[in-house]
Amino acid sequence: MMEPVNVAIVYYSATGTVHALAQAAAEGAEKAGAHVRLRKVAETAPAEVVNTRPEWVAHLQDTADVPEAGLDDLVWADAVLFGAPTRFGNPAGQLRAFIDTTGPLWFQGKLADKVYSAFTASNTAHGGQESTLLALGNTFYHWGGIIVPPGYTDPVQFRSGNPYGTSHVAGDGSPGEVSLQAARHQARRVVDTAALLKAGRAA
Ligand SMILES: Cc1cc2nc3c(=O)[nH]c(=O)nc-3n(C[C@H](O)[C@H](O)[C@H](O)COP(=O)(O)O)c2cc1C
Repeated sequence: MMEPVNVAIVYYSATGTVHALAQAAAEGAEKAGAHVRLRKVAETAPAEVVNTRPEWVAHLQDTADVPEAGLDDLVWADAVLFGAPTRFGNPAGQLRAFIDTTGPLWFQGKLADKVYSAFTASNTAHGGQESTLLALGNTFYHWGGIIVPPGYTDPVQFRSGNPYGTSHVAGDGSPGEVSLQAARHQARRVVDTAALLKAGRAA
């Protein structure tokens, strides 16, 4: 019998929105039969900035037990889902900082041929969700990754509305069932695709 697909969910979240999407993606991937590592990236903002927002401080404390992502998680994974909030139309620098440590892995070809997908949140509906996801996609191209977007491959996509990747409008409140379902669906699709690739390579 084939080994299960290994999925890393690597995310950054300041106030919990992307964290909730990451947890839903983990649920979706596990339900699809994958081995899952849910990993946050390190906080890089100075304490005096974090401390200006009590909800940021609280979220850091609440997720203290979530392991931090390491390069070994990327090596282990057959598929990686990256999550980051929008910052001025781009992925949060905390996730970029992690991605920018992957040069040696990239150079050795160890990031190629894996399945990649991304999800995000922004405060407003037109605040840069697609640009954030597409910016992450630029990196996946450089890695030689296989990009698996959700498209409109499930009825929930017609409600959540973003074929590039699960996206939540944080200004409307915490992720509700539609956004969470979209994240689960996206992860399931990533697992299914990675499983087909893994089986094909093993054959
Ligand atoms: C420095 C900064 C820049 C931001 N830029 C945008 C933006 O361009 N568009 C937008 O809609 N929201 C923007 N936001 C709001 C965040 O995207 C929003 O707080 C985030 O998606 C919530 O996710 P989290 O709870 O996982 O941190 C910005 C927030 C910060 C702190």
